[in-house]
Order: sequence, then C-alpha cells, then structure tokens
Amino acid sequence: MSSFHFHLILFSLLASSAVLPSFSATTELCNADDKRALLRIKKAFNDAYVLSSWDAATDCCEWNNVECDGTTHRIVTLNVPRGDLSGSIPSDVGDLPYLETIYLHKQPNLTGNIPRSLLKLKNLQYLTLSYNNLSGSIPGFLGDLTNLIFLDLSYNRFSGPIPSSLSNPPNLRSLRLDRNALTGSIPASLSHIQGSSPYLYLSHNQLTGEVPAALGDVDFTYIDLSWNQLSGNPSALFGLYKSAQQIYLARNMFEFNMSEMEPPQESLIALDLNHNKIFGGIPAAMTGVTYLQIFNVSYNRLCGEIPVGGRLQRFDSTAYFHNRCLCGTPLDSCK
Ligand SMILES: *[C@@H]1O[C@H](CO)[C@@H](O)[C@H](O)[C@H]1NC(C)=O
Ligand SMILES: *[C@@H]1O[C@H](CO)[C@@H](O)[C@H](O)[C@H]1NC(C)=O
Ligand SMILES: *[C@@H]1O[C@H](CO)[C@@H](O)[C@H](O)[C@H]1NC(C)=O
Ligand SMILES: *[C@@H]1O[C@H](CO)[C@@H](O)[C@H](O)[C@H]1NC(C)=O
Repeated sequence: MSSFHFHLILFSLLASSAVLPSFSATTELCNADDKRALLRIKKAFNDAYVLSSWDAATDCCEWNNVECDGTTHRIVTLNVPRGDLSGSIPSDVGDLPYLETIYLHKQPNLTGNIPRSLLKLKNLQYLTLSYNNLSGSIPGFLGDLTNLIFLDLSYNRFSGPIPSSLSNPPNLRSLRLDRNALTGSIPASLSHIQGSSPYLYLSHNQLTGEVPAALGDVDFTYIDLSWNQLSGNPSALFGLYKSAQQIYLARNMFEFNMSEMEPPQESLIALDLNHNKIFGGIPAAMTGVTYLQIFNVSYNRLCGEIPVGGRLQRFDSTAYFHNRCLCGTPLDSCK
C-alpha cells in the first residue's frame, strides 16, 4: 500500500470516528416503548424521589435504577434498593418484556401483592422483592416464569401456603421465602429445585408438618427451616457425602435420633439444631466434620458423652446445654 493510500484510509477512519460521538449524543438509545412503560411506573409510584433521574427529556439508558442491554438497548434490569416507593407494584412492570432482573428491596411502604402482569416477563431470571411490606398469598403463577433462577420474597407479610408450582421453573436454584407468615406444609415439589449450589430459606414462618423425604434428593448448599413448627424426622437432608455447607433447623418440633444422623463430612460449616425434641446422642461422625464453625444442639433431649475430637470441644457449653443427659467437655464430665 502506498503511503498516500494509507493516509487516506487513516484520515477517513479518523473522520468517521470524529463524527460518531456527536451523532450518538443526539440519538437516544432507549427503546420508546420501554421509556413509556418506565414513565408510567414512575407516575404509579407518585414520582418517588428515588426515581428522580427518570426524566422524559433524557435517554432512559442513562437513568439510575435501570440498565439497558449493550446490544439491544432494551431495559434488562430494574434495580431499586432502598427508597421511598409506596403503594403496590404497578402492572406496567409487565410491559418491560426484556427484563431479566427485578430488585425492589427495602421499600417499607411497598404494599399489596405481586401483579399478574409479571407473567408477561418471559426473560425474567432474578426476582427479588425482599424487605418490603407485600402481603396476601404468594401467587402460584410465579411458577410459570419459566426462566426464573432466583426468587426472593423474604421479609414481607405474605401469608397462606407455599404454592407447589413455585419450583416449576426448570432452572430455579434459590428460593427465599423466609420471614413471612406462611402456613401449611413444605410442598414435596420443592425437590425440583436443582442446579449447582441450590439454596432454600423458609425460616421464620408458621410452617407445619414433616420435611418431605423427597427434599433429601436435593443436595442443598444452604437450607434454613428454623423458627417454624415443623415436626418429624428431617434426616433425609443429611448424608455423609452431601455438600451442604449450612443447615439450620433450630426452633421447631423435630423429633429424631441424632445418633443415626449422617453429617456431611467435607462441606458442613454450620449446623444449628437448638430447641427441638431431638433424642439419642451426638454421633461420632460429628468429629469428622473438618470445617465446622457453628454448632448448636442446645435445648433438646440428647444423652451420652459428647464425642471427643474434631472441632466439637471448641464450642462453649451453651452449644450443648439444656439437654436430658449430655456430658463431657465442655459440659460436666460423665459420671
Ligand atoms: C412511609 O410512609 C409513611 C407514612 O406516609 C412516611 O412517614 C414515611 O416517610 C414513608 N417511608 C418511606 C421510606 O418512604
Ligand atoms: C406495613 O404495613 C402495615 C399496614 O399496612 C403497617 O402497619 C406497617 O407499619 C408497615 N410496615 C412497615 C415496616 O412499614
Ligand atoms: C438411637 O440410635 C442408636 C443407633 O441406632 C441406638 O443404639 C439407640 O438406642 C437409639 N436411641 C434411642 C433413644 O432410640
Ligand atoms: C446455642 O443456642 C442457644 C439457644 O438459642 C443460645 O442461648 C446459645 O448462646 C447458643 N450457643 C452457641 C455456642 O451458639
């Protein structure tokens, strides 16, 4: 290539890149339908202060609390952590068809239920509506959001049963319904929660009945059923070769022989069983739990010597007190 041609090409490249920025500054990337839907949402929220950057005169891809896809420029994220949203979730949220993530968190005046229009959001993967003041029963139609991976409705005032359809989305990995006022039993269908590192948080509700045996088929990384009125034997959740890291079953009415429990050896870091009706003794296999950091079996009906070894003697007596006849370090020595 001659140097003349080279310079010509270089010049035209520079010229086009010089023109581009001024051109894009006047071109709005935001999709007009998305913008209209967002402005309706802002209006439904009575022009909440947290949404003040949502100005009709500017590109909605530049607004706070939303995110546009880099290629399609469609709104993919609605993210309002902490703010002054009040009233119920407007049905217009269902008019953002490319939404993948909804995160409405710590809005104490956000009330009412979840609008049915969310069913239109076929791309929705992450739905977090935590620490709000939502109420009513959890709508079963959430199970029809086929791309859902993560559902978090924790810290609200939802009541009624857990719909068995919730675990229908084939890629659902994490379900958080803790800190509500849910009643009824745990649906066996929650055993459909799959994928890598599944999580299930149902603590601080009023759930009753037994833990369905089918839940033992899931290798939950984290499971929290504490502070309910659950009964029976939840041993299916354990297994020497499972990969559970944290298991919280405290403050229920579980009744089983702990001697027969098989604690996951390699992965377990937290096991809290306090305030139940657990009998038998602490299994020797507990000494083989390499990374145990939280352990509490207080307020049960356990007996016998606390096995010596592993990390069991690192916990103070309150981890073991208020049992029928447990003994040995850190409690009094066995007679
Ligand atoms: C919630 O509503 C109450 C009563 O209208 C108001 O005083 C309070 O500031 C609101 N909280 C937020 C975070 O907007
Ligand atoms: C939730 O709403 C109820 C009644 O609608 C109200 O009494 C309560 O204070 C609200 N909670 C919060 C945290 O704002
Ligand atoms: C608990 O299980 C162990 C081992 O199977 C058995 O030896 C023991 O008698 C059982 N304890 C009670 C109270 O049933
Ligand atoms: C175990 O749980 C009991 C009851 O909640 C509590 O009082 C105690 O401090 C806990 N101990 C440890 C070591 O976690």
